[in-house]
Amino acid sequence: MECENKTAHESFISLLLRLQKEGSMPILLTNETITALMFDMLGAGSDTSSTTLNWAMTELIRSMAAMARAQAEVREAFKGKSIITEDDLAKSRISYLKLVFKETLRPHPTSPLLIPCQCRETCQVMGYDIPKGTAMFVNVWAIGRDPLYWNDSKELKPERFETKNLDFRGTNFEFIPFGAGRRM
Ligand code: HEM
Repeated sequence: MECENKTAHESFISLLLRLQKEGSMPILLTNETITALMFDMLGAGSDTSSTTLNWAMTELIRSMAAMARAQAEVREAFKGKSIITEDDLAKSRISYLKLVFKETLRPHPTSPLLIPCQCRETCQVMGYDIPKGTAMFVNVWAIGRDPLYWNDSKELKPERFETKNLDFRGTNFEFIPFGAGRRM
C-alpha cells in the first residue's frame, strides 16, 4: 500500500529516473533524453498555461457579466475552502469556468500559427497548388476571430459554447487552439 501511494505521488522527474534505473523501457533513457523531456514539457507547458490564464483574467475584467457568473460559480463550488487541490477541481461542478477558458483560447491561442507542418504530398487547398515539402502555417489566431464562424468575435461570450457543441480536440476546424491531426 505504501509503495502504491509512493508511485501515485511520484513526480515526473522521479518517474523518469526510476524507469531509467529499472531499464524497463523499449528505448534507452539516457540523462540527455530525460533532460530533453523535462525541457520539452516545462517549455511547452508553462508559458502556454500562464499566458492563457493572463488572457482569461484580462477578458473577464473586460466583461463584467462573465466575471460575475464565473465568480459566483467558483465561490459556490469551493465554499469555505481556502486551498483548492486538483482533486477538488475534478470533483467540482464548475462548468462555466471551463467555457471561459474555451472562449479565451478562441481569440488568444498560445500558438497563433501552431507548429509548422510540412506537406507530405502535392495537393490543392482552395484552388491553390501546394507542392510537396511546403512548410505550412495554420493561422489559428485568424480562424478564432473569423466573423464567418463567430458572431461578435471580439467579445468574450463563454455562453456561445453552451449552445455550440464545439470541442478543442481537433475535429471542429473553426476551433483548434491545440492543433489537429496526429501530433495535436
Ligand atoms: C493552454 C494550454 C496549451 C495550449 C493552447 C497548447 C497548444 C499546443 C499546440 C498548438 C501544439 C502543437 C500541436 C501540433 O503540432 O499541431 C502543442 C504541442 C505540444 N504541447 Fe501543448 N499546449 C498547451 C499546454 C501544454 C501543456 C500543459 C503541456 C505539458 C505539460 C504541453 C505539452 C506539449 C508538447 C510536449 C507538445 C509537442 C507535441 C509533439 O509534437 O510531439 N502543452 N501544444
